[in-house]
Amino acid sequence: MKATDFAYLQEQAAHDPQIDEINEEAFGPGRYTRAAYRIREGGPHARALSFVAMHGETVAGSVRMTWVVAGKGRALLLGPLAVRPEWKNIGIGRRLVAMALEAAAKADAGSVVLVGDEPYYGPLGFQRVPRGQLSMPGPVDLNRLLAHEIEAGAVAALTGILDHENRARAAA
Ligand SMILES: CC(C)(COP(=O)(O)OP(=O)(O)OC[C@H]1O[C@@H](n2cnc3c(N)ncnc32)[C@H](O)[C@@H]1OP(=O)(O)O)[C@@H](O)C(=O)NCCC(=O)NCCS
Repeated sequence: MKATDFAYLQEQAAHDPQIDEINEEAFGPGRYTRAAYRIREGGPHARALSFVAMHGETVAGSVRMTWVVAGKGRALLLGPLAVRPEWKNIGIGRRLVAMALEAAAKADAGSVVLVGDEPYYGPLGFQRVPRGQLSMPGPVDLNRLLAHEIEAGAVAALTGILDHENRARAAA
């Protein structure tokens, strides 16, 4: 099968159980302790900017986006991104990331950040955030804190601790 054999749709609530299953399969129970998860539990994700790859009624892959803030900056946090093992390495992940970046630009996000492998995300337009600029509410390997800049200067505006925008607003 090829990546083009799947239908790419905006995420709907009905996809939630299968997305949970895919993320459980990809990241295991340890996912709840990840710094990015700590941010995401601060409020809902942006469903309109999140996408699934469908094979019939089966969710083959999923990418979610969440509005976050840090310092004077606002951005979208990309993740989790996961593809079912049987459909890995045929381009679904790349395609979901491209869709998420396009949606982010349309939603006027200045940048998209994530915690992930640079060898995978580098060619998709992500670079390391300069060390010391940004941290997360939990331990994170700073070599894996990556950003894709949409608007010049938007990444530099992200300083301090990245958090879900709802929780940051509630605390302000
Ligand atoms: C990472 C993941 C989302 C990639 O999705 P995918 O649809 O399989 O990937 P694509 O088909 O778009 O890209 C495949 C290419 O990326 C490479 N790749 C996959 N994971 C990689 C990684 N962690 N680091 C570097 N390269 C990676 C593959 O080797 C392949 O390279 P090739 O095109 O030269 O053969 C998928 O493997 C997955 O669900 N992994 C488990 C969860 C995870 O680690 N998510 C990312 C962190 S948020």
